[in-house]
Amino acid sequence: MKESEFYDKLKNWDFSMINYEKEIKTDWGYYKKIAENVNEHSLCLDLGTGAGENVLKHYPEVGMLIATDLSNEMIKTAKQNLKKYPNKNIKFLTMDSLKITFPANIFDLISARHTIIDAYQIHRCLREGGTLVIRGVDKNDCLELKKIFGRGQGLNDEIAISDLDYANIKEAGFKNIQKVEIIIDEYYKTKEDLMALLLKTPILEKTHPNNEKEILPIEKDLFDEYVEKFSTPRGILLERLYYGIKATK
Ligand SMILES: C[S@@+](CC[C@H](N)C(=O)[O-])C[C@H]1O[C@@H](n2cnc3c(N)ncnc32)[C@H](O)[C@@H]1O
Repeated sequence: MKESEFYDKLKNWDFSMINYEKEIKTDWGYYKKIAENVNEHSLCLDLGTGAGENVLKHYPEVGMLIATDLSNEMIKTAKQNLKKYPNKNIKFLTMDSLKITFPANIFDLISARHTIIDAYQIHRCLREGGTLVIRGVDKNDCLELKKIFGRGQGLNDEIAISDLDYANIKEAGFKNIQKVEIIIDEYYKTKEDLMALLLKTPILEKTHPNNEKEILPIEKDLFDEYVEKFSTPRGILLERLYYGIKATK
């Protein structure tokens, strides 16, 4: 299955059914960074928003948030989810983050969490002095798991996605660029909880030489090998590695 079909089929980005706990080892909060750079009048854009689960729960109060995603199905679910938050100033719409059609210089802040970005298009749409905040999944996220499966998100990238984003953000003309590594240890209560995560995310996707992503079935023997190796009294350990970037136009 292609990555875009995968998200359309999934229709949501809700992990509340999965039983796990996390130990956050880095003090850099994505929504905290956003909150520090907006006020109740700000016009904001969240790219690749999924079904809005996270922006609905965690985005600070702003004048208006426009939240977009490539997947029509995700946006349909987001509009349903919005009904539970009648006081939120959020508008959901379908848009490809690589073909942004908003006018230039209009947003006070643009955010993107765990999704593809084009730094040049973001720079065009931000006003002078506006802020970019992103959080991404790094090449070495879940490294031990990816090593066992011999594939996974970003595993064979020659340049890590975090370095590529940083370079593109600089090249696009942003100033005051801050980049941090975000380390989180997750402990999954049971094998079924970990399997549910892997079936719901593209962590173990395969990238073909033409850069097309494919979601493959999960091999049970390799999964069992990982579970055996990383079982701890707290649960099955999964070492997450993300990156955060904040920059100013
Ligand atoms: C891993 S989910 C993250 C969802 C949300 N940002 C969050 O953190 O909860 C990635 C989302 O990016 C979307 N996406 C992938 N490629 C995209 C593109 N070119 N333009 C817009 N959205 C895209 C997917 O449809 C999916 O909903």
